[in-house]
Amino acid sequence: MVLLACGTAMAQLPIYNVGRAPTEAELHPSDGVVGSDGKELPPGRGTAKEGETIYAAKCAACHGKNGEGIYPWPRLVGGIGTLNTPIPVQTVGSYSPYATTIWDYIQRAMPPFPLEKNLTPDNIYALTALLLYWNGIIKEIDVMDKNSLPEVQMPNRHGFYPDPPQSTPNKDGTWQPYWNQAKPAAK
Ligand code: HEC
Repeated sequence: MVLLACGTAMAQLPIYNVGRAPTEAELHPSDGVVGSDGKELPPGRGTAKEGETIYAAKCAACHGKNGEGIYPWPRLVGGIGTLNTPIPVQTVGSYSPYATTIWDYIQRAMPPFPLEKNLTPDNIYALTALLLYWNGIIKEIDVMDKNSLPEVQMPNRHGFYPDPPQSTPNKDGTWQPYWNQAKPAAK
């Protein structure tokens, strides 16, 4: 925050005559981030079917007609089951542990600058549904909304290592993450 505040002050100093004061939106870049449990998701709904036209108009030019990707833009479909093989294919379908992250990513980053970002929440639900459908994770008629999207089980949901649990309590009875614990004395 201190750095940000300095930035604001500097940008406004007439002597440098460069930059500008950040806008309110730029000062809160993480507002509207949707976390894994999706509780920040807005109202709205969409299905894969509805996503098709939006995808064709706004996404296919870079990500390919069927999400196969057009080099150097990433593919969005496929790769499920390849992550622990010699040629892992990482896509939002094969890699993302949470479906809500796809929604969040599209909302904040797609289509990328300098294209206009003008997707409505309904559009984003529909596009997320389409990508999940193309990846074989949901059915074409499944409605995605703030309740159903967090329920979607992604294939790589359990592919990440959790922090190892602590097996014994500390001397004072508290449980602390293992990295905060003193090393046991060598015997
Ligand atoms: C101008 C080309 C372009 C267009 C149009 C575009 N994208 Fe992207 N997209 C990209 C690029 C480039 C990346 C990778 C960005 C990065 O990794 O920093 C990306 C990444 C993504 C990802 C994450 C992929 C991953 O594996 O992490 C998703 C999901 C996505 N785009 C969806 C969409 C959707 C949906 C649309 C249509 C609304 C869209 N994109 C339109 C260029 C585009």
